[in-house]
Amino acid sequence: MANNLLKGKKGIIFGALDEKSIAWKVAVRAKEEGAEFVLTNAPIAMRMGEINKLAEQCNAQIIPADATSVEDLENLFTKAQEILGGKIDFILHSIGSSPNIRKGKSYGDLNYEWFQKTLDISGLSFHKIMHVAEKQDALNEWGSVVALSYIAAQRVFPDYTDMSHAKALLESIARNYGYRLGRMKNVRVNTISQSPTKTTAGTGVGGFDAFYDYADKMSPLGNASAEDCANYTISLFSDLTRMVTMQNLMHDGGFSSMGISEDIVDMISK
Ligand SMILES: NC(=O)c1ccc[n+]([C@@H]2O[C@H](COP(=O)([O-])OP(=O)(O)OC[C@H]3O[C@@H](n4cnc5c(N)ncnc54)[C@H](O)[C@@H]3O)[C@@H](O)[C@H]2O)c1
Repeated sequence: MANNLLKGKKGIIFGALDEKSIAWKVAVRAKEEGAEFVLTNAPIAMRMGEINKLAEQCNAQIIPADATSVEDLENLFTKAQEILGGKIDFILHSIGSSPNIRKGKSYGDLNYEWFQKTLDISGLSFHKIMHVAEKQDALNEWGSVVALSYIAAQRVFPDYTDMSHAKALLESIARNYGYRLGRMKNVRVNTISQSPTKTTAGTGVGGFDAFYDYADKMSPLGNASAEDCANYTISLFSDLTRMVTMQNLMHDGGFSSMGISEDIVDMISK
């Protein structure tokens, strides 16, 4: 259901890889709600070509950028403002990758160069994006910046290894830039802590199916889908949430408030 919640707003959406991506669903919903935006992803991800379909569907242009490169981000923000004909109202950071997880390294056997890559791609990139936006004075007053996080920033999920530290960094950056951009331009910055979701990044984590089912059985509302996450993100880009900032917002069907559920008790008692 569309309500023109983002009518007249201009944005940049990072991280749509394929139809399963959370960023893909956000782009589709943002379009339905009347936004104009550019899509961006790492040049290497463009080779899959899937993003072209989304661009066509949303009548959006694509600007490649490696989110770890300040130079790429400078080019992205310059071009995005040219294409959209003005400053930016919303940004979605939907970026995550860990070479250690990809290569199956356990927490006690992490490769430290890869660890730094994980932090750079999945955490520090959020700082770099807001840094470039600030330097170019690219954000409109009352803009909204959102990044996607996971509860492994607060609790231990052994297979999430170095990504758990990247998420803790991401959430901390949201608070610190939230303060800074709030003071400067009334811009709000939040993270959404999303349920396990069946995407390329999600299913790449060891034991994903088990903790997907576990979270689903633990949460009174079940796991939040990528579509649910897109809807929540749209609400944060809209003017209905103008005073929400510097928060890590749980979007998890109730998982984070649970101790144990009857479904889990039943499962273990069997
Ligand atoms: N899937 C889940 O279970 C889950 C749960 C909570 C949070 N999240 C978070 O949601 C976000 C989106 O992930 P997703 O689940 O939609 O998976 P996805 O694999 O579809 O998206 C991850 C994106 O990150 C992009 N990316 C990787 N390196 C990059 C770089 N250097 N520069 C720019 N982009 C780069 C990829 O190309 C891809 O588009 C991530 O931050 C992820 O950690 C996912």
